[in-house]
Amino acid sequence: MANFALPRLDKDEQLKELLLPYCRLKKGDVWSDPKRKHKIGCFSAEESSKIKKILRNKKAKLAVHDPPYNIVAFQKMSAKEYADWCKVWVLNTEQILDDDSSLYVWLGADQNNHLEPFAEFIIMMKKSNFNTRSFITMRNQRGFGTQKNWMAVRQELLYYTKGEPAFNIDGVYTKINKVLKGYFKDINGELLENTERGKSDYIRASNVWIDVQQVFYLMEENVNGCYAQKPLKALERIINVSSNPNDIVVDFFAHAGTTLIACEKLKRKCITVDIDPIHCEISIRRLENFRENGKTGWQKSNPFAEEILSDTKIKNHLEKKYNLEIPKEL
Ligand SMILES: C[S@@+](CC[C@H](N)C(=O)[O-])C[C@H]1O[C@@H](n2cnc3c(N)ncnc32)[C@H](O)[C@@H]1O
Repeated sequence: MANFALPRLDKDEQLKELLLPYCRLKKGDVWSDPKRKHKIGCFSAEESSKIKKILRNKKAKLAVHDPPYNIVAFQKMSAKEYADWCKVWVLNTEQILDDDSSLYVWLGADQNNHLEPFAEFIIMMKKSNFNTRSFITMRNQRGFGTQKNWMAVRQELLYYTKGEPAFNIDGVYTKINKVLKGYFKDINGELLENTERGKSDYIRASNVWIDVQQVFYLMEENVNGCYAQKPLKALERIINVSSNPNDIVVDFFAHAGTTLIACEKLKRKCITVDIDPIHCEISIRRLENFRENGKTGWQKSNPFAEEILSDTKIKNHLEKKYNLEIPKEL
C-alpha cells in the first residue's frame, strides 16, 4: 500500500475545516455504539450536566484522563489557571465515579519552567476527595534536551483512588527478564534468591514503565493526523489492573480513541468525550476499523483516506501545502 499519512491536525486549521463535513458529530452530540454500548460525546470535559447525562446515572469504575498540557507550555493559560480548569473536570469525574474507583491522569512537567503544570495540579488535588496511590513514570523513547540537558524522556502518570477499587496486579509482568542475582530474601525460613522467588521469569510491572513503546509512524496502532496518542499497551495495563470486564471506563480527552480501543479489546464499556468533532470522528472510525480489519490504527494510511481521494479540495490542499503525493487509490 502507498504511504498515505495525514499531517498533524493541530497545526493545520484549514485541513480541519475541510474534514469537518465528514464528521458525524457536531458540538453537543453523542454517538452510541450499537454493538458494545460504548459512547462518544462531543463536548467539553467542563460540562457537568452533559457528562452526567452521557453516564445515565451509571457510575464508572475507572477514569483515565490525558488533558492537553500544551496550553500551559504555549502560555495560553497560567499554571494556576490550568489547575483551576483541571479542578472543574476532576469534580465532574468525582461525580460519576463509583465509591470504589480509580482515577489516572497523564500530565506534563515542563523542566524548563518549574515543572509546570505538574506542581499546581498535585496541590489542587490535595483538596479533592481522591487519595494518592502512586506516581507512575513511563519512559518515552524519543526525548529532548540531549545537548544542553539530560534527555527528557519521562511521561508522568498520576494514580488516585476513592474507596477500595480493583487492583488486579497478579500476572501483570513486563517482558523484561529478571536478571538481578545475589539478592536473597527469607521466605518461610528458606533463603531464596531473587530469580527463583516470583512466579515468573519476568519483572513485575512497577511504577516505572520502561517496557512501553512510544507510538511512532511505523507502528500499526499509529493514527496519522493525531499528535498526542498514548500507547495502547499503557492503556491496556491501566484498564486490566484497575477495572474488571463490563465495568464502565471514562476518558474525557479521547483524541485518537486509545482508551476506547483498549476497552473494546478488554471488554469494558467506554464512555469518552472530546471537544473536537474531528477527534470524535477519528475515535469512531478507529473502533470501526478495528472491528472490520482487526487493525488498531492506520500505520500507512489515515482515518479520512477514502474521503480525501474523492475530495479535490482536500487533495489540492495536501498536495500544495505539503507537497504530498496522494495515491490514486487505496
Ligand atoms: C493529549 S490529547 C489525548 C490523547 C489520548 N489519550 C490518546 O491516546 O489519543 C488531548 C485531547 O483533549 C481534547 N480536548 C481539549 N480540551 C478539551 C476539553 N475542554 N474537553 C474535552 N476534550 C478536550 C483535544 O481535542 C485532544 O484531542
